[in-house]
Amino acid sequence: MKKIYVFDTTLRDGEQVPGAKLNLIEKVQIAKQLEKLNVDFMEVGFPSSSQGDFEAVKTIAKEVKNVAITGLGRAVKEDIDIIYDSLKDAENPLIHIVLGSSNIHMSKKFKKSPEQILQMGVDAVKYAKKYMPQVQYSLEDASRSDFEYIWQTIEGVVNAGATIVNVPDTVGFALPETFGEVIYKINDRLMNLNPEVLLSVHCHNDTGLGTANTLAAVRNGANKVECTINGIGERAGNTSLEEVVMGIQLHPDYYNGYTDINTKQIYETSRMVSGIMGLDVQVNKAITGENAFAHSSGIHQDGLLKSKDVYEIFEPETIGAPPMEIILTARSGKHAFEYVSKALGYKIPEEQLMPLHKKFLAMADEKKEIYYNDIINLLDKENVTK
Ligand code: KIV
Ligand code: ZN
Repeated sequence: MKKIYVFDTTLRDGEQVPGAKLNLIEKVQIAKQLEKLNVDFMEVGFPSSSQGDFEAVKTIAKEVKNVAITGLGRAVKEDIDIIYDSLKDAENPLIHIVLGSSNIHMSKKFKKSPEQILQMGVDAVKYAKKYMPQVQYSLEDASRSDFEYIWQTIEGVVNAGATIVNVPDTVGFALPETFGEVIYKINDRLMNLNPEVLLSVHCHNDTGLGTANTLAAVRNGANKVECTINGIGERAGNTSLEEVVMGIQLHPDYYNGYTDINTKQIYETSRMVSGIMGLDVQVNKAITGENAFAHSSGIHQDGLLKSKDVYEIFEPETIGAPPMEIILTARSGKHAFEYVSKALGYKIPEEQLMPLHKKFLAMADEKKEIYYNDIINLLDKENVTK
């Protein structure tokens, strides 16, 4: 089984969400929680972009010691110098350089030839290597780039000393099958070039495929994933950390891998990021949504009360979430009604269960939404003892 490294970019790509800008104290609070979650890398800013980002990277590099810390910059000396300054106090620092590799980026954004861009990338990695051993190179917009050019770039930057190569689907354009094939081909060649180099992916969620593309890449040889908590990030967001981690944990043989994430901290981290950034988690969000463990269908409730695994693929406690919730509706059977009554402290005598359930159904039909207080009122009115 291979280790899949988890790189969290909530505090860099995630923080690019409009309205989610954090102050230093908030950033440090989230960084400490990410340390508890046991991510392998955390990217905490773009130090050359502003003094605030520089200070954040510098402070987190000083205060968080058990995780590799990185800051992002362009493939230019000035950015690399500033990243180095911000990471001086880190125990395990990594310089992260990004440069476009698609024709669209090279011709329209940089107005440079592919050869010039490749040289810039190689020079930047060589320059960064003078500062520290760990350098990551990201081929921005890789999923819309020519495959042979991607490989030429990877070959160039690895020979220059890059220890991680990152293949981003910057605009969420990729499809799982084809992205998986690209990663397979890169991995195949990288194994011959330098098997020590980590092969990373960074997917965006513009068509809702961030998690699927990331997992397809893992299945095809990627051993590092970049993600954010709750999938926050530019536009439709980044790949969600909790979805990828649980996907791997639920199917370790399929992915032939594992992560070192402390899954019990997932729920707490999700709620903290949501609260501090002021970004609600959608109620039906996979893994961490409010309804992820809420069951309202009568048939499902009946099955769950017989055995939880009938309708739960993992227990909420696995991610540190509150236990499953039975939502009572007019479709709830007598076992679900009895289960909730018991949880509220009532002991319904056997002969009273059927008539009380009937009364509950009449109330549910009338009210539509049933709260636990409604059950308490009904049971008290009917003199059911605690
Ligand atoms: O989306 C992207 O390409 C990025 C890179 C910096 C990895 O965020
Ligand atoms: Zn990104």
